[in-house]
Amino acid sequence: MSSVDSQQRVLSGMRPTGRLHLGHYHGVLKNWVKLQHEFECFFFVADWHALTTHYENPESIRENVWEMAVDWLAAGINPGSSTLFIQSRVPEHAELNLLLSMITPLGWLERAPTYKDQQEKLREKDLATYGFLGYPVLQSADILLYRAGKVPVGADQVSHVEITRDIARRFNHLYGREPGFEEQAEAAIVKMGKKNARIYRSLKRRYQEEGDLDALETARALLKEQQNISLGDRERLYGFIEGGGKVLLPEPQALLTPEARVPGLDGQKMSKSYGNTIGLREHPDSVDQKIRTMQTDPQRVRRNDPGNPENCPVWGLHQVYSDEATREWVQDGCRNAGIGCLDCKKPVIEAIIEEQRPIHERAKEYESNPDLVHAIIEEGCERARDAARETLDDIRSAMGLDYR
Ligand code: TRP
Ligand code: SF4
Repeated sequence: MSSVDSQQRVLSGMRPTGRLHLGHYHGVLKNWVKLQHEFECFFFVADWHALTTHYENPESIRENVWEMAVDWLAAGINPGSSTLFIQSRVPEHAELNLLLSMITPLGWLERAPTYKDQQEKLREKDLATYGFLGYPVLQSADILLYRAGKVPVGADQVSHVEITRDIARRFNHLYGREPGFEEQAEAAIVKMGKKNARIYRSLKRRYQEEGDLDALETARALLKEQQNISLGDRERLYGFIEGGGKVLLPEPQALLTPEARVPGLDGQKMSKSYGNTIGLREHPDSVDQKIRTMQTDPQRVRRNDPGNPENCPVWGLHQVYSDEATREWVQDGCRNAGIGCLDCKKPVIEAIIEEQRPIHERAKEYESNPDLVHAIIEEGCERARDAARETLDDIRSAMGLDYR
């Protein structure tokens, strides 16, 4: 029930802990670019989340915040259709984090698989902090603040979306329907204008008195096309048709981002920590250099030695970048020593440089004009704050914190 519209809202964030590379492009960014055509999207730089692990060197975060914004724009995220912002510029995230922390049982956080995993992985860092334990609460605040219905994340983050759902459910259970719901719903009806208000009331009556499902559907469609009412009011009126309250915090769904197929220079997953990346905005000469010096099948020492693509990381790149004919040419040429490794690498180098051409093109405008990037982010922060305040007002009053 009720949360039809916010189910169409997408929200995701990225921690600014390093420069983006082709793994991010194929895994995350291309997906975001696609989503922005289908849904209302909020994408943000999760600088506070970065601070949970990088609190000892915040300078690294500072640099990456802006580089990340440029990377997103260069990858084709369109600031006209998506809202791009920085988490710490919307302090409402912190307030909701605090409120949610009151109702989050410690066990949920201690049991989060990422909690122990990350502590073990990042041994050199002291992650026995309050902030790190609370990482999933902050992430829940990020999501619930916008009543987002869809959260594109990698597999490692699905457990955090689960915790978000648990927290939302617990919140709704504890604070239930907002006080003064009926009055607020009545006020919202008036905002639709005389004619629509009359239609809404009559559809609601037909549904409630006669169980007319068509009337329910028509009323929902009517609400969907209203331009004059806020998202919060729309939620109220969805709930009101059915006689229920408004779902304060709808439970989000994780949209699982498929694992990026592009391998790193050593054949392992492309990752900053393996030092095997090609940057999203890597200079073409450097792409050329990196692929040329890339490891190949260790059995193929001399040009005349036959090789096996299965044992060669270059083959992994062909699987992403090359068409069928080229792949056959590689398979034959490698196994029969018909081609040299440099010949084999050439189409990969060309394909990557070609893929990056429009990215560099778009990046140029932003690199040479930091004010433009700042303005885009500033506007996004404002839009985000507006949406966030709307939810937070509802939350404060549901919790009885709206004293006058
Ligand atoms: N934790 C996420 C990651 O490391 C980043 C993130 C922070 C996020 N808040 C979010 C992702 C909210 C989705 C929704 O990738
Ligand atoms: Fe790898 Fe290609 Fe050389 Fe074969 S020919 S070892 S696939 S780079």
